[in-house]
Amino acid sequence: MEMKVTGEGAESYEEVMLIYSAALRQIQTKLGILNDEFQHVHNYNPIEHIKGRIKSPDSIVKKLKRHGYESTLENMVKYCNDIAGIRIICDYTTDIYKIADMISNQSDIKVLAIKDYFSNPKPSGYKSYHMIVMVPVYLSDKIVDTKVEIQIRTIAMDFWASLEHKIQYKFTGDVPKDIADQLYACAEMVSNLDDKMLELNNEIQEIR
Ligand code: GTP
Ligand code: MG
Repeated sequence: MEMKVTGEGAESYEEVMLIYSAALRQIQTKLGILNDEFQHVHNYNPIEHIKGRIKSPDSIVKKLKRHGYESTLENMVKYCNDIAGIRIICDYTTDIYKIADMISNQSDIKVLAIKDYFSNPKPSGYKSYHMIVMVPVYLSDKIVDTKVEIQIRTIAMDFWASLEHKIQYKFTGDVPKDIADQLYACAEMVSNLDDKMLELNNEIQEIR
């Protein structure tokens, strides 16, 4: 069968979006299988829950515009890495790299880029582990390699990111310094909480 990358060949917008949503499902299924296997072998779930979403046409257009690109199908596929996006929420910080390794070890997944905002947090205080991967989508007459953005973070990091995002939105990105400073302080509290919860879990493991 012919091997392609999304956007190669004259696909319609609808066809491209169908491929992205298939890629999203593909990754979700893979993660579900890995989680079940992990539960079977190690008796615990590294994944607390998973959220998946397809970027709205509106957000795609806005993002392209922000980066100075015209809204064409070609630009969208080339420059928008998060049309298909998955967020994996875990309990402990140590789960983050376990999950990332399980994903990279899948032989049909190609890791295109990694941004480790867990080890190197953003100036805002944002923490998460980001991967851009390519997953093959099998159609009736071709296989299409498709990009998916994966974000891996703890429940605590997700709590912070979700509220901070809403605050950013309220101020349309222009958050007053005092508020930004307080948000940064919250991010530090979140990191301390994550450390404490991990310690506690290790203690509990020893008792059992
Ligand atoms: P985008 O153009 O926003 O997608 O950013 P990027 O292409 O430079 O990639 P990056 O890895 O920095 O960010 C990708 C995604 O991570 C964003 O779309 C957000 O979902 C999330 N993110 C990054 N930085 C922050 C932050 O400071 N706060 C929150 N709440 N989310 C963030
Ligand atoms: Mg994004």
